[in-house]
Amino acid sequence: MRILIVGNGGREHTLAWKLLKDAPEATLFVTKPNGGMIDIVEPVAIAPGDVVALAGWADAQNIDLVIVGPEAPLASGLVDRLERSGIPAFGPTKAAARIESSKSYAKDLMQRAGVPTADFASFVDLTEAQAYVRERGAPIVVKASGLAAGKGAIVCETVDEALGALESILADRAFGEAGREVVIEAFMEGEEMSVFAIADGHESVLMLPSQDHKRIGEGEVGPNTGGMGAYAPVSLSSAPLLAQVQNDIITPTLAALAEDDAEFRGILYAGIMLTEDGPRVVEFNCRFGDPETQVVLPLLKSSLLEPVLEIARGGRLGDTTLEWSPAAALTTVLASEGYPGSYPRSQAIHIPESVTGDPDVLLFHAGTKSDSSGLETSGGRVIAATGLGTTLAQAASKSREAADLIEFSGKQFRKDIGWREFARAEQSAEAG
Ligand code: GLY
Repeated sequence: MRILIVGNGGREHTLAWKLLKDAPEATLFVTKPNGGMIDIVEPVAIAPGDVVALAGWADAQNIDLVIVGPEAPLASGLVDRLERSGIPAFGPTKAAARIESSKSYAKDLMQRAGVPTADFASFVDLTEAQAYVRERGAPIVVKASGLAAGKGAIVCETVDEALGALESILADRAFGEAGREVVIEAFMEGEEMSVFAIADGHESVLMLPSQDHKRIGEGEVGPNTGGMGAYAPVSLSSAPLLAQVQNDIITPTLAALAEDDAEFRGILYAGIMLTEDGPRVVEFNCRFGDPETQVVLPLLKSSLLEPVLEIARGGRLGDTTLEWSPAAALTTVLASEGYPGSYPRSQAIHIPESVTGDPDVLLFHAGTKSDSSGLETSGGRVIAATGLGTTLAQAASKSREAADLIEFSGKQFRKDIGWREFARAEQSAEAG
């Protein structure tokens, strides 16, 4: 089987790793693969965002399956093009990808479908948006409606901060055209959980929930990043809670998308806030999360390829179930100095054999490149070090040990990934 993975970050490295476990005989092609993938995949010298060239290449190369990792090519209609050429593709069409590419559309759809989410209003006009913020007060959340690489949501503690965020998004176009429209939302209190639903347009199967850590600093301080670490499973995600997420959130969202002529086939990723009033949607994404994938897929014992291929071929999930390992996984993202701001590239990376040879450590590369001068950094998020263990504490210690041992100049990482889970465990131990 010839599979093309579009994208070249940690999520796509994890997808490649899992697909090769599911189908060791498959040939995997990856767009501009990073330094960690080059030994296991065939490189395709086309950028993940060049949808015209990619569709043409996949057609000419008799590709059996395309899996699209990042949101941008989905929002640009890569799957529509592949479908027109009769190439099975896993991921939503451009219309269905609007669930992520337009936060304003997603909020309207949720409102229509009765999906629980924060109160909101959308604006293109700065004066009107600012008047709304003054009326609602703070804390309040300001989001660029379009795609902003995971950095377009700003939690504002004060009205002044929110007014500044609006100015920067709507007037100064801090996120470019993604900030042509803003969504202003009520602030929600609680703990966040990422739920990936494999969806066939109507039905879905939920994957193991995970928790991301979006801020750069320990204890959730500093600017938003694309994600500095994640863990799974999340002890708050009981079976009744997941049933509620599926029945009240995922299923009505899929139905509303289908009513809009935008059947969603792929991964519907719900960012869920666990509030006192129950689960509420923070945002939807139209693909696997990064770095959550780096902890979810290592725990998936059953095949990912089978349901993905079925859906890509236009089939239904039927009685598909997924089998999960009872173990825990925790990933720590090693980032370049200065990230999420500007950062240097081409820093030499040294990974000791004690790390590469450890069966309880999986390294998923993101911003790395490998050439005649060896392995070097080439991006902000460099490597996700996933630790596996019988308990989350064991997984954390494996992950942190690996993060410590991998060397490159300016390396930064959070040592507190999973802190809420550990605090919860401590509290329940104290309570007896
Ligand atoms: N981890 C957040 C995201 O993938 O959008």
